[in-house]
Amino acid sequence: MSEMWDSVSGAWEDHAGFVDGHLAEATREMLDAAVIAAGNDVIELACGPGGAGLAATARVGPSGSVVFADDAPGMLAAAEHRSAGLENTSTLLCGQEDIPLADETFDAVIIRHGLMFAADYVAAVAEALRVLKPGGHFAAMTWGPRLENPWLALALDAVGDEFGMTFPPEGAPSPFALDDSGQLGEILESAGLVSVGVESVSAPMTADSVETWWDVVLQLAGPLAIAYEGMEPEVRESIRQRALEFGDSAAEITPDGVAMDATVLIASGRRP
Ligand SMILES: C[S@@+](CC[C@H](N)C(=O)[O-])C[C@H]1O[C@@H](n2cnc3c(N)ncnc32)[C@H](O)[C@@H]1O
Repeated sequence: MSEMWDSVSGAWEDHAGFVDGHLAEATREMLDAAVIAAGNDVIELACGPGGAGLAATARVGPSGSVVFADDAPGMLAAAEHRSAGLENTSTLLCGQEDIPLADETFDAVIIRHGLMFAADYVAAVAEALRVLKPGGHFAAMTWGPRLENPWLALALDAVGDEFGMTFPPEGAPSPFALDDSGQLGEILESAGLVSVGVESVSAPMTADSVETWWDVVLQLAGPLAIAYEGMEPEVRESIRQRALEFGDSAAEITPDGVAMDATVLIASGRRP
């Protein structure tokens, strides 16, 4: 899994502004849910290029700190480049299931679109809880239901339709693996968090054209990028045409280009 994400880390660094832009409001809500304040020590797990952690640095200020953690070295390098010049930040190469730090280190743990890739969701949240100080806060963002996320679902559907299957296939890592708010809440409670809540937040995706949407999503969606890379040129072109058709039918035309719906879930809780 870390090799897959490592192979798309360059694209994630290149398009970090796009990702952070479309998730800006939802990220603010995630930081609110994690009750991040001046002077806090925060860790962002599965940080990728670190967009959520960077937003947290503005809140914790010079008396706080932010650790960017990911198990893909290329992603951590991107977070390091983007946080260069900020003295109260550091990077840590580790899986979210095994954080090589002492118990009760952080005031807040945040994970944006990473928890769904953990091998064991409850164990991953329990590990986050271990490094939280008593009373510390956890918040994770995941994608909401596939039907509410045409910006990503249609790109995956274009591949699935080409082969007459659902993509990603059943049982394979999927960005929509934690799209059920009830399940998400139960995971946090089973891990030992209290005052658990899950909210649904709209995070529309915008691009200057449907072609740009496809190019960017293709590069960022890890499982899609890897599968597409290994296909014959004529199969790729057929998928691209189908994706553009799907995109045209779902995109709303705006003065700046196109917009597509997206919904995220923000799950949060507190260590007792
Ligand atoms: C969809 S990207 C999200 C990146 C970033 N959090 C953001 O929102 O911009 C998923 C990230 O999770 C990381 N990841 C996946 N599984 C992981 C694991 N088990 N432990 C730590 N990081 C993981 C990947 O390397 C990748 O950086």
